Amino acid sequence: MRHFVIAGILVIVVSVLTFAGVYAADVMPMAASTQAGYIDWMWNVELIAMSFLFALIAVPMFYSFVVFRRKKGDTTDAEHIEGNTTLEIVWSIIPLFLVVIFAYLGAVNLADTLRADPNAMVIKVTGIQWSWKFEYPPVDGISVASDELHIPVGKQVLLQMTSTDVIHSFWVPEFRVKQDLVPGRITELHITPTREGDYIVRCAELCGTSHYNMLKPVFVSSQEDYDAWLAGEVEIARELQATPEGSGQLLVEANGCAACHSINGAAGIGPTWFGLFGSQEELSDGSTVTVDDAYLTESIHEPQAKIVAGFETQLMPTYGFTDQEISDIVAYIKTLR
Ligand code: CUA
Repeated sequence: MRHFVIAGILVIVVSVLTFAGVYAADVMPMAASTQAGYIDWMWNVELIAMSFLFALIAVPMFYSFVVFRRKKGDTTDAEHIEGNTTLEIVWSIIPLFLVVIFAYLGAVNLADTLRADPNAMVIKVTGIQWSWKFEYPPVDGISVASDELHIPVGKQVLLQMTSTDVIHSFWVPEFRVKQDLVPGRITELHITPTREGDYIVRCAELCGTSHYNMLKPVFVSSQEDYDAWLAGEVEIARELQATPEGSGQLLVEANGCAACHSINGAAGIGPTWFGLFGSQEELSDGSTVTVDDAYLTESIHEPQAKIVAGFETQLMPTYGFTDQEISDIVAYIKTLR
């Protein structure tokens, strides 16, 4: 009996110390959304349970090592034990009970995390090898798209997400929630930001060569700052839409083309666009081509038709641009010199 009391006290002490230690390590990034609050609560409840279970196993084990070790000169066998039905029932029922409780807590928590606000602002998200495209609700018939996410604080946003190529996964650790973007399907993610600040969205699904580089800024600001930013973008879009090269620039920025093609001559995953128009390019089959309207149009339509030498391993996906959009993009590329 004395041993049970001592071991019991030690289990409680070690449980508390283990939880305090792990909690103090503060492994979670800052919590910046309503959803993060639910998830962190669940995480802490599970940490408490894990700390207790760790102590429940480790303490009696080490206690026995020390207190019940073989005395010097003792060569007798240990007591022979046949089994204990009561003990087996107890250690089956209690864990079963705990698993059911955690299943219930988990289900309630999941429902909290997924709860939709009918007034949420809808932003359309597209995952592209290897960038993000965010489309905001239209203002005066002009819709703005960017490769950075801007959202106001204190208001739920509903991300309606899809992918043009392979599966990507939207993840901002400070918001805690994470969701895959699947080609041919719309998936949803509800986020209610609670802290103004700058964050980074990353891709949490291995999606190819530049998976690691799918990092884009996320700006959470006051409603006024968000409105001002959107109004500014609408104004810029209105001006750019007036010309073919401006429309092309908008398309290029929204589709994250810069992830592979620099516009300043810097090396990248794909050929730079700086000074590209009118230049001579050597192709992977050894032939040479002059970069003109026809070549650029073909290369956007069918990226693998003629591959520039040195870029054979980084194949560009096919984007679903219309002929008009392609001619605008070509007009934009012509301005880069
Ligand atoms: Cu997109 Cu990994």
